Order: sequence, then structure tokens, then C-alpha cells
Amino acid sequence: MEKLIIEGGRKLTGTTTIHGAKNAALPILAASLLVRGKHYIHNVPHLLDIKVMVNILRELGCRVEHLDETIVLDSEGIHSHHISKTLMQQMRSSIFLMGPLLARMGKVQFYQPGGCAIGQRKIDLHLRGLEALGATVSECDNTIVCTVDKLVGAPIKLDYPSVGATENIMMAAVLAEGTTTIYNAAREPEIEDLQNYLNIMGADITGAGTDTIKIHGIKQLNKQDYTVIPDRIVTGTLMIAAAVTQGNITLKNVNPSHLSALIHVLRRCGSQIEVDGDIIRVSSSLRLKPLEQIVTMPYPAFPTDLQAQIMVLLALSDGTSMLKETVFDGRFKHVEQLVEMGADIKVADKIAYINGVKHLKGSTVYATDLRAGAALIIAALAAKGTTIIHDIHHIDRGYDGIEHYFNQLGAVVKRLSTSAVVNQ
Ligand code: UD1
Repeated sequence: MEKLIIEGGRKLTGTTTIHGAKNAALPILAASLLVRGKHYIHNVPHLLDIKVMVNILRELGCRVEHLDETIVLDSEGIHSHHISKTLMQQMRSSIFLMGPLLARMGKVQFYQPGGCAIGQRKIDLHLRGLEALGATVSECDNTIVCTVDKLVGAPIKLDYPSVGATENIMMAAVLAEGTTTIYNAAREPEIEDLQNYLNIMGADITGAGTDTIKIHGIKQLNKQDYTVIPDRIVTGTLMIAAAVTQGNITLKNVNPSHLSALIHVLRRCGSQIEVDGDIIRVSSSLRLKPLEQIVTMPYPAFPTDLQAQIMVLLALSDGTSMLKETVFDGRFKHVEQLVEMGADIKVADKIAYINGVKHLKGSTVYATDLRAGAALIIAALAAKGTTIIHDIHHIDRGYDGIEHYFNQLGAVVKRLSTSAVVNQ
């Protein structure tokens, strides 16, 4: 087990380049199963979740190598439709394999992913979508089996614009007979990236990025190289860290249009944001202003994956703010850790009431989930004194060597094994 030791009180300054998006790479890797042969997927970060996906793909019979930032995946020898319970439990995103496996093998067996650190996270919309395309779904003792002779396109209205369900249905429908229309589809940029990947392989999909996606089924896809989009949540995390530490940073290889909601919020808080092509500059020189209310909602609204990080900014702002989480039902676990560091935050139901304090103090805290862990790093960078963050395997799921990013920007962040002695 490892931990991070962070010396607080330094302004972030300098330039860094953002890695590829985990949430785009995962479904794209899954979609590669739809075509036999060797695929080259570029700009794929070295993250725990990607490693789990690689392990699952290998278990299914694929040959996979992750060299530098490129994954070479040969799906020719795929022989199994069964995702093992152990790997399923390591990463919820393994459910992305449902649609492609069903389309390629006519059968998929996996396990209920169950709840997780940020909430209940059901998969009913995924399953109902696949049923609408003709699959038979059976569930016994948490084991789920989907089978189909022939997938047939259908109109599907999602009760909620679930990112994963939209992607799973797109992947299952691409080789189905006839047309599938997904109504109330999720609009996240990662869905557009999946559409682009499938379309360059010959799929006929339109509408990703809007709430109605049309997939005209085709007979066969042809493999193509693809480069994954930059990670908007990693970008957003660093932007918030720069604003909170009153720093001045430049981020390269970003897509600013994916970050409109955050840019708007940071400007309202008093940060200066400059956008220049695929570069974003963030600087702040004064204590930031609070915000009356921020509500997390599906894209293009403020993302739940930046809720914990923006809470740190509000916790150090000059006044009172309200932050409402509407996407997940258990995503305030970081509050207890931030309070340990001196924040003044109270939670009632899905709303956090935040009274800005002048300083946070270095403490020993625990990352309870991926983005909560990122928020603790931001808090630690701004705090007086040294902070120790435990359970950082959560952070490694979504940030490729997070300490290197921050150290490149002038921070002092060390990674040690938990048994190492720390001199404070
Ligand atoms: C994806 C992202 C995750 C992000 C989330 C919301 C990936 C790998 N992960 O997760 O980082 O936080 O979008 O932007 O892309 N729901 C149901 N039934 C379902 C599916 C979802 O009730 O069948 C509910 C969930 O419990 C949750 C909400 O819908 O409350 C949003 O979930 P969803 O959009 O599906 O998120 P993920 O695809 O799991």
C-alpha cells in the first residue's frame, strides 16, 4: 500500500500536458471487440482501471500490450463470453463489455457490479436497452447471462441519460439489423469519441453529443487506428488546483469546449482563464469568491466528477456556498476528510453547505474514492503544513502518476509505501 506526502502552501506554476481520457478509452477498448484483428489505440493513459480492462480482454482471449501511450489489441483469438467475478469486482466499467460481447459472441455472462463508494449504481438501463434489441436477460445469484440469436434495432428511451447505458447500447446496436434510436441519451464528450471511433471503422451513427442518437446497423466494421480525446476531468482537477493555490499554470493537449461549465464557474469565482486552441491558462491572485449554488448534473452541466475538487475551492473561498450532488447518491464521503483538515462543511441530504475558511491545515486523511482523493490533494496543496493521504490506489484508477503532474507544477508531493517512516 502507498500513500502521498504533500507539503502545502506552494502556488502551482508552470506547464504540463494532459493525458488521454480514461472514460473515453475504456468503452473504446471494449468496442474493439466488435472487429477481429489488431487495433492500435493511442493516447491511452497508464491507469489502474485501464490495467483491469487489459486483464479482462486478455482473459477473454485477446492479446494486449500497453506500450508507451498506445494499446495494441489483437481480438482475433477471443474465445470466452465470461467476465470473471474477480475482475468484475475490481472495476465497474467492465459492464462496457456487455454490448460488444453480445454483438460478437451472441452471449455474455457477468456479475452484478453492486454498489460502490459513490452510490448505488444500478445497471437496469443497460439491461433494458439490450433487451429492447432482442436479448434475453436472466439473473440468478448475482450472475447475469444475456443471450441473443440476432440483435435487431429498436427505439429506446432511457429513463435517465446514463453514460454507460448509452455507450453499451451504441456498441450492441452497431451491428444489429435495422435502426436503433436512443432517446434521452447521455451527451458527454466521451460518447462522441466512441461514435467517432465506431464511425471511422465504418459504423453509421449520428447524434452523439445530443440527446438523440441514431444507429443504422451495418454488416461489418473494419479496424482503424484511433487517438483518444484528452481527459477533461484531469484537466479540470489541475485547473481547480491552480485556482485554489493562487497559481498560474498552462495546460496543453486539452479540449476547452469540454470544460465550459468549469470555466464558467472558475471565472465567476474570480479566476482568470485564457483559452488558446488546445491550451488553457489558469491564474488567480486573490482569495476566491463563493458561489451561491452549484448543482452537478449530466453534461453539459457541472460534472459530478469535479464536485469534490470544486468543494475544496469553495471551502477556502470568502463566504458561503451551496453544492448539490444530483448524479450519485453517496458522493460526499470526502466531506469528513476535508472537515478533518479544518473545512467548515455540513451535509443535509444531497446538499453540502460550505462556509469558506481562510486556511486548511495539514492532516492525515483517507481517499475514499477516485475524485475524493484528487480533492484531498488539492486541499493538501493549499493547506498549511504537511498532509498524508492514505488509500491512494483509488486515485491511481484515474490519474496517471498524479504526483508527477503536481511536482512538474512546483508542488512537493512524494509517494511512499505506507510502511515508510515520515519525518514531518
Ligand atoms: C460514467 C463515468 C463516471 C461519471 C458518470 C457520470 C465512465 C467509465 N464513468 O459512469 O466517471 O461519474 O458517468 O458522469 O465513463 N444509473 C441507473 N441505472 C443504470 C445506469 C445508471 O440508475 O442502468 C444511475 C446511476 O446509479 C447514477 C446515474 O445513473 O446515479 C449516472 O450513472 P451513469 O451515467 O451510468 O454513470 P457511469 O456510466 O457509471
